[in-house]
Amino acid sequence: MNNLKIKKICCVGAGYVGGPTMAVIADHCSDLKVNVVDRNEERIRNWNHKDISNLPIYEKGLDQIIKRTRNKNLFFSTKIEDAIAEADMIFISVNTPIKNKGLGAGQTSDLRWVESCARKISLHAKGHTIVVEKSTLPVRTAKTIKDILFASNDDLNEKNKKTFSVLSNPEFLAEGTAILNLEKPDRILIGGEDKKSIEALVEIYLRWVPRKKIITTNLWSSELSKLTSNAFLAQRISSINSISAICESSGADVYEVANAIGKDTRIGSQFLNPGPGFGGSCFKKDILNLVYLCNYFGLSEVASFWESIVRINQWQQDRIYKKIVESLFGNISGKKIAILGFAFKAGTNDTRESPAISISKNLLLEGAKLAIHDPKVQPSQIQNDLSDYLLTQEDNNKDLKNNKSNLMFFTDIYQAAEGAHALIIITEWDNYKKIDWNIISKNMSKPSWVFDTRGILAKDKINKYGINFWQLGDGSGKN
Ligand code: UDX
Ligand code: UDX
Repeated sequence: MNNLKIKKICCVGAGYVGGPTMAVIADHCSDLKVNVVDRNEERIRNWNHKDISNLPIYEKGLDQIIKRTRNKNLFFSTKIEDAIAEADMIFISVNTPIKNKGLGAGQTSDLRWVESCARKISLHAKGHTIVVEKSTLPVRTAKTIKDILFASNDDLNEKNKKTFSVLSNPEFLAEGTAILNLEKPDRILIGGEDKKSIEALVEIYLRWVPRKKIITTNLWSSELSKLTSNAFLAQRISSINSISAICESSGADVYEVANAIGKDTRIGSQFLNPGPGFGGSCFKKDILNLVYLCNYFGLSEVASFWESIVRINQWQQDRIYKKIVESLFGNISGKKIAILGFAFKAGTNDTRESPAISISKNLLLEGAKLAIHDPKVQPSQIQNDLSDYLLTQEDNNKDLKNNKSNLMFFTDIYQAAEGAHALIIITEWDNYKKIDWNIISKNMSKPSWVFDTRGILAKDKINKYGINFWQLGDGSGKN
């Protein structure tokens, strides 16, 4: 009989993972009190905003769940210590970006927030607390968390000693389909050593997930499975992207190739869409973590195998930018170029690691004027993403204002395209599939170019208006 009955949950980190995950748990477990806490006051204000369209994260179906649960059994606040003190189970969902300085910079995750979270838990938790790693972490982070948690006991007398057990429960949701992935997960993975704690977490998921989908493993297998899962997914994208380049050179069509290989049930048809390279907060970071781990264990061949996935990803973005410059006679200085889509994929307002960032920066450095359109991303976010380009320019010629004029934002696709020499589709938003090319062709500078990096446009529809068209992976024009 399991005697760890969970009544109160706390989640530290109200981001893309913590917010939707806790909302779904609260929705299925009305007897549980779920406190989501975050140090970012604005984020919490938005989670609590009366106008449900102001939630900090856009995910289909999330608003309805928030309406049902908020202030009933789901609460958002900045009172991190209080929420920790009353919780039986605490999820760590803070961000873990790649370190930008010091040992392992550019290679391994920056764990400062995980560590500070563990320190807060060790200080404020009461009695027995189950600590669950929800953030994706380098393998063996659970050991660090445990060391910090148990260190707090050193100063306490026997009677007041706290107890903790640490579980790994990685999240596999993809942005844009978060609610669907949470409601109907392919699997739930729980790693740990303490059977009672594992069972306490299993019982929460059992409210809506069949037991056969819940996998339990040891801690390290769980942590490594999350990294491996993302590495395998990213590997498929780099594989098909590398083939897209061969297609362009050889006369093959990457969509025909993807369709043909995807029919093999051993390969499967999902995750074979070529594109400008994978973005998002996880793939690159997780592969780099894997590479770091391999090097740490002296497995340099394994490290370079996985590293090549990231290299191809960057190469794909670079070759697209070069293709654009070459097509525009090797000179884009002063030319207006329309960028359609800045999010790292459709269905989200997230731009982390979006290929749009590196392609845009390179075009700006060549002197282009960018007209950017994205239905969900705010101009301030884009400006922020391109800020090191803007800063470099400021250092170089102290004329930031002038350079900012190289960046223009449009809410109307047709205005973005007006006078442009080229139009580049970077995100596969649905409304780009419905563009009226007759109107566009009349308004663009001639010769006009359209570059489709997502394979969402039909060549014949565009060619008939006299627009030059390049589609990623399409070598069919070759004889
Ligand atoms: C997730 C995962 O948790 C991470 O491991 C993965 O690798 C990337 O995706 P995500 O939810 O997308 O993170 O991150 P983000 O949207 O940035 O949310 C993290 C939240 O934690 C932020 O709102 C931040 O304010 C909060 N935070 C961070 C704290 O409350 N305290 C801290 O000390 C640090
Ligand atoms: C990913 C994983 O899918 C998810 O399981 C994990 O928890 C977090 O990381 P996410 O980053 O939200 O989720 O998006 P995903 O749909 O996996 O796409 C990642 C990137 O790959 C995007 O830039 C997308 O455009 C690109 N992609 C995806 C392709 O280029 N081709 C494909 O076939 C699929």
